[in-house]
Amino acid sequence: IPVDSFDLVIFGGTGDLARRKILPGLFRRFCAGQMPPEAQIVGAARSEMDDSGYREFVAEAIHEFAGPLSEDAAQVEGFLERVCYVAIDAKGEAGWEELKSKVREDLVHAFYFSVAPSLFGDIAERLHLHGLAGDESRIVVEKPFGKDLDSARELNATLAKHFDEHQIYRIDHYLGKETVQNLMAVRFGNVLFEPLWNAQYVDHIQITVAETVGVGGRGSYYDASGAMRDMVQNHLMQLLCLIAMEPPAKFEPDAVRDEKLKVIRALEPVEPYHIVRGQYDKSKDAPGYRQDVENPRSFTESFLALKLHISNWRWAGTPFYLRTGKKLKARTSEIVVVFKDAPHSIFGADAGRHRNVLAIRLQPNEGMTLDVTIKEPGPGGMRLVDVPLDMTFADALGPEAEQATEAYERLIMDVIRGNQTLFMRGDEVEAAWAWTDPIIAGWTARSDVPKPYDQGGSGPEDSLMLMHRDGRRWRELKG
Ligand code: BG6
Repeated sequence: IPVDSFDLVIFGGTGDLARRKILPGLFRRFCAGQMPPEAQIVGAARSEMDDSGYREFVAEAIHEFAGPLSEDAAQVEGFLERVCYVAIDAKGEAGWEELKSKVREDLVHAFYFSVAPSLFGDIAERLHLHGLAGDESRIVVEKPFGKDLDSARELNATLAKHFDEHQIYRIDHYLGKETVQNLMAVRFGNVLFEPLWNAQYVDHIQITVAETVGVGGRGSYYDASGAMRDMVQNHLMQLLCLIAMEPPAKFEPDAVRDEKLKVIRALEPVEPYHIVRGQYDKSKDAPGYRQDVENPRSFTESFLALKLHISNWRWAGTPFYLRTGKKLKARTSEIVVVFKDAPHSIFGADAGRHRNVLAIRLQPNEGMTLDVTIKEPGPGGMRLVDVPLDMTFADALGPEAEQATEAYERLIMDVIRGNQTLFMRGDEVEAAWAWTDPIIAGWTARSDVPKPYDQGGSGPEDSLMLMHRDGRRWRELKG
């Protein structure tokens, strides 16, 4: 779908996110022909640099992170012509008038705040002071959106001084992932699933986001956050909302976000014994979490598993098990819906226990499998076996699906289109913190110590027990 022409200003234009995600993503959209001829990208940051210096930075970012398309020199050249740079002081006056001279009237204006949240207020204020922001200008802000309810409220209030909610795009890049949107297509585009999508037919739901990487070079950020703030409050919470929400009347921003908000508000407080925190241990050849974050007394979790309940008619009694962690044995994100047993087995006890399981894989190999029970082939009588109906989207839909748009590109294009459906509303973020805060406060009050776990495994033993106690088990982590 074409988009209107735009000026996109990236504050923090020389930062890591711009380099890894935003600029390579925009380049891929350019190659896909989705960038109108006059569209312009303005990098804005503190470093003194001219346009050609910034273009070199952008070219390097593309070569490193944009994949095979970056080998097309003509495309890279064409994209770089759209890029310029302004050295700017977010807290002072330098650069703002120059930025104003570059931003053209009558185009869509989007300002990407790829900077520390402490600068949001300064930038928002100066955009107004210098007449850069109109009623239809958009701003894009990144997580972490606060570190608790108070700070999130404060950020919302700061932004609200200068921008209306319809102008604020809070990114959760999980919402931009292809399969996450497919989740809604599967639920609401088929007649097959929705009638069974409730406590009467669903035994439990598992949401797993497992990573093989550690905390990388982000030790100081991560150690102050942990898996709860870094992953659960946002990414896993968003997945939970999409899987559990009521059908919105329309696929429109507020219709969808109203339903998501209701899910968060219906979450029950979590019992401490329904939470397992872990921290990856050092191994023979790799440092442990505490070495990685250079904090020998860190009690921050790099793994979290928890059991949740949603108090509403649809889900009363159906547990949701969430887990996420770093340095696990596979990089895999999936949502698994385990249906209940058939009410009566006509095949007798010998047939064993069989269940339908719908697994929606977000990454890698995006796709879906549905385990169905059939007769085991052969003359051995009526023996049952579960077989997966397996659909990898790339196999089913061809190469286009393989080159699927990455989360950031899709979301930035949605900003230009003015479509907020895949962005978090202020009240959603606050509700998620309101649920998270007491859990974290409980850990602090009890001086909770995370359990060490082996790198390359499935997390602490207690996380398996969380399921075993209920006669259930996690689906195996497979890459
Ligand atoms: C980020 C977290 O939001 O998501 C990281 O800060 C995490 O810690 C990343 O590694 C995971 O994203 P993805 O898209 O690689 O699953």
